[in-house]
Amino acid sequence: MAKIPPGVGPRFPQVVVLFGATGDLARRKLLPGLYHLTSAGFIPGCRIIGVSLDDIDVETFRRQARGALDEFSSRRVTEPDWQDFAACLDYVPLSAGPEALRAAVEAAEQSLGTECRRLHYLSVPPSAALPAVRLLGAAGLVERARIIMEKPFGTDLQSAVTLNARLHEVFAEEQIYRIDHFLGKEPAQNILAFRFANGLFEPIWNRNFIDHVQIDVPETLGLGKRAAFYEQTGAYRDMVVTHLFQILAFMAMEPPTSLEPVPISEEKNKVFRSMLPIQPDEVVRGQYSGYRDEEGIDPDSDTETFIALKCHIDNWRWAGVPFYLRTGKRLAEGQRIISIAFREPPKSMFPPNSGVGSQGPDHLTFDLADASKMSLSFYGKRPGPGMRLDKLSLQFAMTDTGLAGEVLEAYERLILDAMRGDRTLFTTAEGIERLWEVSQPLLEAPPPVRLYQQGSWGPKAVHQLIAPHAWRLPFERAWRKQTVQGG
Ligand code: BG6
Repeated sequence: MAKIPPGVGPRFPQVVVLFGATGDLARRKLLPGLYHLTSAGFIPGCRIIGVSLDDIDVETFRRQARGALDEFSSRRVTEPDWQDFAACLDYVPLSAGPEALRAAVEAAEQSLGTECRRLHYLSVPPSAALPAVRLLGAAGLVERARIIMEKPFGTDLQSAVTLNARLHEVFAEEQIYRIDHFLGKEPAQNILAFRFANGLFEPIWNRNFIDHVQIDVPETLGLGKRAAFYEQTGAYRDMVVTHLFQILAFMAMEPPTSLEPVPISEEKNKVFRSMLPIQPDEVVRGQYSGYRDEEGIDPDSDTETFIALKCHIDNWRWAGVPFYLRTGKRLAEGQRIISIAFREPPKSMFPPNSGVGSQGPDHLTFDLADASKMSLSFYGKRPGPGMRLDKLSLQFAMTDTGLAGEVLEAYERLILDAMRGDRTLFTTAEGIERLWEVSQPLLEAPPPVRLYQQGSWGPKAVHQLIAPHAWRLPFERAWRKQTVQGG
């Protein structure tokens, strides 16, 4: 495996305290991610202390971690790298209390033998987050520490404000890293590169040239083992108030004064401040048929498994440009796209049957799949006599560059950033509170859920929501096949 150039990783060795170490996210993403970061040489030294409710010993934890890597690591697990990683793992059951946790952290720090930093990762359900924070306080593990918090950051404005206030009793805001893994996705950051490193598009990135924007994240997945969590949360809180709004901010923000965390957060928060409150009559909530029969779900559940909405950013750049957001479970396809529809030109000189405009406006589309893809569609002339127009496209896929193997998975990237003290891709208390504030009308008076068939694109009302435009998905034409296999 290629070793990493110096300076890319954190300056100091890291002691990671992973709460929820036997849980789903730890197994699927965090342990495989930490394995990759350590084995690829991103971190100068690392010890990982798993913590959870399970009363297991360290050997059992190591076996479980190995099982997780075998099942979920996207990279090959070699025996020497695994042995090194296993030696970094320790485990403390929650029942052992703060003293035992402190002792384990101190032992880890001593074994690293030099100045270290602590990274506490709270991969736990919302009800367990504050108790874990208090445990860290009681164990005296706040110094030299950063803490990564998983969503949901509250369930409405009041609970978010209270949660932040409680957190601040133990950790200072600069120590808190609220993770939104969509921002760690390589293509999300590529939106910033694309917008601000090129002269071509920024001049037309506004209401004069853009007709509307779609952020569309349908999933084929169902609930898996997350029924209890999902039933309390629903699609709006699980996906929109977190991931989709964060992506919207990257898409809509003004150029920051520099690529530093504070200027970027400032610009994102300005977008959130300019957002108009979400109006219930501009929202479609759906629930797939069969949801209420699933284990752990209330037979009368009103939880939405689908949501589509229209949102407005009332500032100089975007006034009058609707942003349509959609996401849901058990839909026809799994996709994550942002699609920007440009205003149409006058078509006066083209004969009526030329085909101009017949396939919708020109679009710029970002695919947020792990390795970025982008497409710019336009009308071009069909070869041959006369003037017949077809929709054509320029497409880019990171896999064509052969660099796709360099892509860090979202969680890897964000864990590494937190270890380096880089908050650029994390969300702030202020931003989150504002998002709950704009959500309030919807949370207070949600429209009724409408049933939709599994494998469909959601309730029919989504078409009225976006009319006179149309949803880009499903695509009329598939992405072009890649030409070079990524490394
Ligand atoms: C999670 C949500 O944050 O994001 C899940 O809780 C969702 O419900 C997931 O499936 C989607 O993430 P990704 O990276 O698979 O697009």
